[in-house]
Amino acid sequence: MTALVTGATSGIGQAVALKLAQLGAEVIVHGRDAGRGAATVQQIQEAGGAARFIGATLTDPDEVRRLAAEAGAVDILINNAGIYKFGLSADVDDAFFDDHFNVNVRAPHILVQQLAPGMAERGRGSIVNLSSVVATTPARAGGIYGASKAAVELLTRVWADEFGRAGVRVNAVQAGPTETPGTDALPGLAEALGNLTTLGRPASVTEIANAIVFLASSDASYINGAVLQATGGQAAIAA
Ligand SMILES: NC(=O)c1ccc[n+]([C@@H]2O[C@H](COP(=O)([O-])OP(=O)(O)OC[C@H]3O[C@@H](n4cnc5c(N)ncnc54)[C@H](OP(=O)(O)O)[C@@H]3O)[C@@H](O)[C@H]2O)c1
Repeated sequence: MTALVTGATSGIGQAVALKLAQLGAEVIVHGRDAGRGAATVQQIQEAGGAARFIGATLTDPDEVRRLAAEAGAVDILINNAGIYKFGLSADVDDAFFDDHFNVNVRAPHILVQQLAPGMAERGRGSIVNLSSVVATTPARAGGIYGASKAAVELLTRVWADEFGRAGVRVNAVQAGPTETPGTDALPGLAEALGNLTTLGRPASVTEIANAIVFLASSDASYINGAVLQATGGQAAIAA
């Protein structure tokens, strides 16, 4: 079993890569930073797993196609790499918009386009896309990011329909605030948003990885086109 995990050099993706390797998958660790890639591969190998690194910048569609070609036949694709920046609509520029849609939507689209037909030919495969609670709950200054994840959720259901009869399942995890190197760069964010959930705290990367690996595994064999909320629960509004 081979698994490609994008953005596996950090945070949620790294936790998914480690867990899939523990379960026996040969993991292709993707990211941009070769140093972080080598460290993740080493961590997997030291735990007895198998992994290799492929570097690719997902803003460039040709790089995404090269990543798919170098990955080859994969059984599991985790579209995890993503960017999240904040800005009010009146303030953001075209590059801000393009970066979110190129990394968060176009790159997963190209990877599915390149890799899912091979899975369909082999009669099996599982794809999990990363969404966010802000895909369905408006977040102040998070409009473009949320819109990119809303697109990912809709595409998840379209791809589930396109490939399901060939034995390829496509699902998404809607993650809530999670402590990662990415959110650490935005001090206080994960904790403040975590406070707004029913559980009153942010998630650990392991808690989100568990949901992703469940959907990727055969334990979820009758689940297709689902968006699993791993959001900590939406707190009730009260007067
Ligand atoms: N953390 C949260 O609170 C949260 C909540 C909901 C959803 N999510 C989603 O979960 C996913 C992972 O989030 P995270 O917080 O774990 O991320 P993170 O710690 O910021 O790591 C991001 C990963 O994506 C890669 N990446 C970013 N931009 C890239 C680009 N242009 N080309 C190639 N690779 C790129 C990074 O590679 P490098 O090593 O090269 O930097 C890194 O491996 C994202 O899709 C995010 O939107 C996160």
